[in-house]
Amino acid sequence: MKYIVKGGRELGGTVRVQGAKNSVLPILAASILSNDKCEIRDCPDLSDVKTTLEILEELGCNVTYGVDFVGVDSSSAFNPEIPERLMRKLRSSIIFLGAVTMRMGKARMSTPGGCHLGARPIDLHLKALKTLGIKVKEEAGFIETDASEAKSAHVHLAFPSVGATENTILAAVKIKGETLITNAAREPEIIDLISFLNAMGARITGGGSGTIHIEGVASLKGITYRIIPDRIAATTYMCMAMATGGEIELENVKRDHLTAITNELREEGARVEFFGERGYIRAPRKIRSADMIKTMPYPGFPTDAQSVFIPHLIKGDSTSVIVENIFESRFKIVDELNRMGADIVTEGRSAIIRGPRSLTGAHVVAPDLRGGAALVIAALSASGESVIEDEGHIIRGYESLVENISALGGDISVSNT
Ligand code: UD1
Repeated sequence: MKYIVKGGRELGGTVRVQGAKNSVLPILAASILSNDKCEIRDCPDLSDVKTTLEILEELGCNVTYGVDFVGVDSSSAFNPEIPERLMRKLRSSIIFLGAVTMRMGKARMSTPGGCHLGARPIDLHLKALKTLGIKVKEEAGFIETDASEAKSAHVHLAFPSVGATENTILAAVKIKGETLITNAAREPEIIDLISFLNAMGARITGGGSGTIHIEGVASLKGITYRIIPDRIAATTYMCMAMATGGEIELENVKRDHLTAITNELREEGARVEFFGERGYIRAPRKIRSADMIKTMPYPGFPTDAQSVFIPHLIKGDSTSVIVENIFESRFKIVDELNRMGADIVTEGRSAIIRGPRSLTGAHVVAPDLRGGAALVIAALSASGESVIEDEGHIIRGYESLVENISALGGDISVSNT
């Protein structure tokens, strides 16, 4: 798949932000913990969601598509195994480990795939499940679990991993007794998962605080639930306004989830405002460079947002520095951006972006999901035509990206050749 972008136009107008990818994936996995039907509203139309729904069908669930919801009826779920081809398609497939283990009493799946952002181990997930008394056997790239001796426990995470926190919650929610998770991730998507489970009848408190308390319940009921807005998609559109010198109104945003982002954008000179669930951004005439952006677990600056910030920082009035503290290898777009005229050097976990530079269209390759989105933004802000080759990363995380950019006045098309 290729995105063809003719750059140089200011983007302007309104865009509705999709439901959050990183919420819907664990929530869909959670749906198998009830023996009932769940309806998920604002479920984004993404390839990662399609893969997750395929996994649910493999497990024996009945998946239905309504006008504005996806239904998962897990009353007929029977299969504790996820095929390797589905596991390898997305990293968050590991989120099924805790849920399937507790629904079926056991599980078998391969280690997961996903974006290549350096080493992405699952040791914290497995350690947490073992602490909950679940037997875990690892052999030749496969994981097998047995929940016959599962028990509530105190799980302390050495790092506040999003996925490990979610897996621990999903494993513990139906284990009798009280489970405590300390050093838990505090991301809004964790709170969304907890809200979903509590609406199903779970008893979980402390979401967002770093210490989560779970009182196990015997059963969970089916519900209808609306997913929170995607804060990274919202950030991507805000960065499009910054890079093209435009102004964009966003529908369906949560101001509190975007604090680290909007603080940074305001420091760079943007005008950012919120009115209820609507947000507004206007790019400054001159972008002030960012002295130091350090990615951190929430509520710090999100690692998923750093790539999409780079295109406008290239136009910044002096030097910007980004330090990536979460993933090892997340500056793969730097060579591509330098070919478009940027002046960026990386040193270990830091990227030094020397501005101001103007970009010229080029033929580039998307290395991963957020890197791909960043290249689209760079192409929109460049003079001339760019071709972004992408083997399917961008559609993993962005719903209707081409339609939305076109509606904002950008010149973008897709070719499948
Ligand atoms: C989730 C998000 C991803 C985001 C990331 C960090 C989803 C579907 N994905 O990914 O978009 O970039 O949070 O905000 O929600 N780690 C270990 N051992 C483990 C687990 C993680 O060492 O068992 C390390 C990872 O290698 C990484 C760091 O912890 O360096 C953060 O990973 P984690 O928070 O688990 O990210 P994901 O849940 O994979």
